[in-house]
Amino acid sequence: MNDSPIGIFDSGSGGLTVLDACRKLLPHENFVYVSDSRKGGWGSLPANQIALRACACVDKLSEYGCKAVVAACNTATESSICALRNDYELPFVGLEPALLPAVRAFPNGKITVICTPATSRQPKFKELLDKCKDARVAVRPQPKLASMIENGLHSLDSLRGEAERIVEEEKPDALVLGCTHYVFIRYIFESLLGAERVFDGNLGAARRLLAVLTERELLSAREESGSLTFDAI
Ligand code: DGL
Repeated sequence: MNDSPIGIFDSGSGGLTVLDACRKLLPHENFVYVSDSRKGGWGSLPANQIALRACACVDKLSEYGCKAVVAACNTATESSICALRNDYELPFVGLEPALLPAVRAFPNGKITVICTPATSRQPKFKELLDKCKDARVAVRPQPKLASMIENGLHSLDSLRGEAERIVEEEKPDALVLGCTHYVFIRYIFESLLGAERVFDGNLGAARRLLAVLTERELLSAREESGSLTFDAI
């Protein structure tokens, strides 16, 4: 048993969608959320810069004595999770586009993955694509969508327009939201495609976190609700 907090980080607000999934599954845990919201926008950076920003987030989380860390960011996971696991003696849970569940549900359908340009370039993501060689998968990096969501959740009309454009151009049987920011507008994609055709990795990551904490006997013994702390690098 361990009452230390769980750390979660992202470039900005996208990881809040993951935090939400984790808190629903682990309501008695304390969480610390760290973002890079002063600089943000990791989706177009080279991998080495993303790794530096991710390390700065983990350093900040280490100050809180976190017992485990969730990289609530597909971009950071694809580019830096191996380095993070090497550099820190902490269990890490990453976020990966939920391509495998989408292929399982629509083995003969067209599956479109939307993600940041940085995610689409990473070898780790290419390994994931290799596992789905026999499926019809289209990868469509979105250079602007994460920053539109980060900066403009108030302008829902333009976000709806962007979602409609993607669905109209792709006409996918299943759509994989390969960036945690996109989960904020999941409901728009669901209204266009139907909930069963939209996939994200948040619940999978929350379940993985539960499994990791259970395996390592790191779950909190607390009976009351856990606390939430926010910080930034
Ligand atoms: N939320 C992040 C992801 O899941 C990154 C978005 C960004 O900083 O561009 O990839």
